[in-house]
Amino acid sequence: MKKRDHIDKTPARLDFLQSATGIILALFISGHILFESSILISNNAMYNMTQFFEGYYFLGSKHPMIITALATTVLLIIIVHAILAMRKFPSTYRQYKMIREHTLRMNHHDTSLWIIQVVTGFAMFFLASIHLYIMISQPENIGPYASSERIAVDMMWPMYLLLLFAVVIHAGVGVYRLILKWGLFEADQQKFMKQRRALIRTIMYFIVTLYLVVGVASLWRYMSIGYEHDFDDGARYHPVSELPQKVQK
Ligand code: HEM
Repeated sequence: MKKRDHIDKTPARLDFLQSATGIILALFISGHILFESSILISNNAMYNMTQFFEGYYFLGSKHPMIITALATTVLLIIIVHAILAMRKFPSTYRQYKMIREHTLRMNHHDTSLWIIQVVTGFAMFFLASIHLYIMISQPENIGPYASSERIAVDMMWPMYLLLLFAVVIHAGVGVYRLILKWGLFEADQQKFMKQRRALIRTIMYFIVTLYLVVGVASLWRYMSIGYEHDFDDGARYHPVSELPQKVQK
């Protein structure tokens, strides 16, 4: 039997699966924050976006169950991604101390980024679960007024703010580390490698900052709607053109 037949490919396969689920989640969140920032354009824009995801434009009526199905799928991908990532978490205080000392001594950017990813990933175990549970159980409660009420009146904004920072930083650092890991955009010569890494890192910081600004601005807009609007009658947002019709979310 040849020597290579003995090589266990499982770790490589698990690594690949972790990268693949990470890329899917990074793509999801970059779309999510942009779709959801439609509130910065207008209430109507966010309302139309919600209708789109509820299938109104291609099925002819609203089906909030689509949101439930989407959120459940995302949750399952997160669970797989997290289980695979946990293999690499420091499992004892001793391991953690060794990594910390190494990072401080070496002042090594990429190791510090890895620690940031572990911390943000851990925070998301809790924060993303809360958010996804609400999306799965109340898919019909999404819209300019419903979302603003949840964020401002139900005081969900601190959770969203923490989740926003955790997920954007986690995704940005994750994609940067994937680029290095799979050797994408590598320079031909060794002497250019450091500059290339620094360039990729600068682009990553720029994109992360951009997403944080958009995310905070959207959150701010939801909060101002939430504090300005009177929710006492329980009516949900609907465009002026639909006013005489049945009230919609
Ligand atoms: C299919 C699954 C998801 C749906 C349908 C969804 C939907 C929404 C909606 C409608 C909002 C506005 C606030 C509200 O109505 O409560 C929101 C906000 C937010 N979601 Fe999600 N979400 C999903 C998954 C996720 C995941 C997996 C993450 C991150 C791990 C995430 C992170 C956030 C963040 C950070 C905000 C606040 C954004 C901001 O500050 O602009 N969401 N989401």
